[in-house]
Order: sequence, then C-alpha cells, then structure tokens
Amino acid sequence: MNKDHIIIANWKMKLGINETIELAKKIKDKFKKIDKGEVVVCPNFVALMEVKKILNGGKIKLGGQTVFWENRGAYTGEISPDILAEAGCEYVIIGHSERRKYVLENYEMIHKKVKTVLGIDNLIPIVCVGEDAKERKTDRRDFVLVDQLQEAFGGLNILKNQQVIVAYEPIWAIGSGVAIEPSEAEYAHKIVRLALNDIFGMQTVDNNFRIIYGGSIDTKNVENFVDLENLDGVLVGGGSLDIDNFYKIAQAIIG
Ligand code: PGA
Repeated sequence: MNKDHIIIANWKMKLGINETIELAKKIKDKFKKIDKGEVVVCPNFVALMEVKKILNGGKIKLGGQTVFWENRGAYTGEISPDILAEAGCEYVIIGHSERRKYVLENYEMIHKKVKTVLGIDNLIPIVCVGEDAKERKTDRRDFVLVDQLQEAFGGLNILKNQQVIVAYEPIWAIGSGVAIEPSEAEYAHKIVRLALNDIFGMQTVDNNFRIIYGGSIDTKNVENFVDLENLDGVLVGGGSLDIDNFYKIAQAIIG
C-alpha cells in the first residue's frame, strides 16, 4: 500500500484552460528532479485531457475536483467516476467545503460519491472534512469531524487494495491566508484517525488511509507541518498556482 507523502494541488476554478496548460507544463518541467512522494494536480474538468497529455510519461498524477455518484445515465452536466478514470484521473476530491457551501452537497451525496468511487479501480477518493469558524468557537470541532466521517464512510468496506485519503480542512482556514496551528492540526488528525479506527478498525486505517491537511498552506508555514506525526501530506489551493511557491511547498513535504 502506498503510504508516501502526498501533495495535491487544487486549482479550483481559478485558471482558464490556457492558464492551466501553461502551469501544467511548468510543473512537469520543474518537478523532474523530485523523485520521492506523490504529486497530484486537480485542474478544471475541461482541461483534464490536455493536462493528461502534458503529464504523460512523468510522475505527476491527475485528479478531479469533484465527481457524480453514478457511472452512467441521464444526469445532465455531471461527470462520473469511470469517465474521470478514463480521462486519466487517479484521484478525485469529494465533499470539498466549497461544494458543500455553493452547490449544497450534503452528507448523503458525499456518501454515495465515496461508495461509487471506491468501486472504480485505480481511482482514489480524497474526502474533505472540517469544521467552520462557529463550530470551532463553540468547541464542536471533534463532534463535527466524527459526524462527517461517519456520514461519509459508515457502512462501507475498504478492500485490501483500496486507498483513501482524508483531508482535514478547517473551513475557516481555507483561502484565509492563515493556516491552523500545527499542534491543532495534529490534534484534529488524531481525532480523524480515531473516528476512522472506530469505523474500519485500526489495521485498515493504518494500511489504507492517509490523512492530510489543507487550508492556507504556503511557503512560510509549510515547514511547521512536515514533522507532524499524523500528517501524510497537504492539499494546497492558492499556494499551488505559482510554480516556484508550489515547488517549495512540495520540496518541504516530499523533497
Ligand atoms: P487554500 O485552499 O490552500 O487556498 O486555503 C485549500 C483547499 O481549499 O483545498
């Protein structure tokens, strides 16, 4: 099972097609020297196939930013897990807080997405969880994390060869320019691990899960995260849009 550290670039809807292509070319070139860990880029859907062509033959992997919960059917506008796999994606983000907020993705949808993606060979779900500012202020974070994980994974089985990534992304930290204190991230990751242990058992969690952090990771704060015991990588939004910044962050995490 691959337990390498991982860095995932979430380009959100921040780049057009040509801008995406330019950045993908730069990344392919710049990252030639990095031979450890895993690097994943998640472009917009329309640019996926072009980016795949650019990355072909290299070590950088491709991910989708979201996905639907059925593989085929009359679902206008949606993209299925098997279409993503066919386009060359090895990863897909599920339940990002921006999707929960702007397109009202709910627990049930997220659960169905995780289930369908787990049924596709070689497509690894990156399931996002995290508390908002109010939940943090009122000390409800632990409860929220356990609840989100139960809703996403409860009743599912993880097979021996399946991998899952859980991204702890405190909503208040995303895009704010201020990351969480590393000690707080370590604590939250322990809660995530314990909640997953409850659902799947410790052995499955140890073997099949990676827990990563996302929320305003940048070149200045990344060093504070690298040695955390329960951190297997990072999900980077804004910090992944500039090639030099992204490279520096990647070097700290996997270099
Ligand atoms: P950010 O985004 O790094 O810009 O805070 C992270 C994310 O939303 O995954």
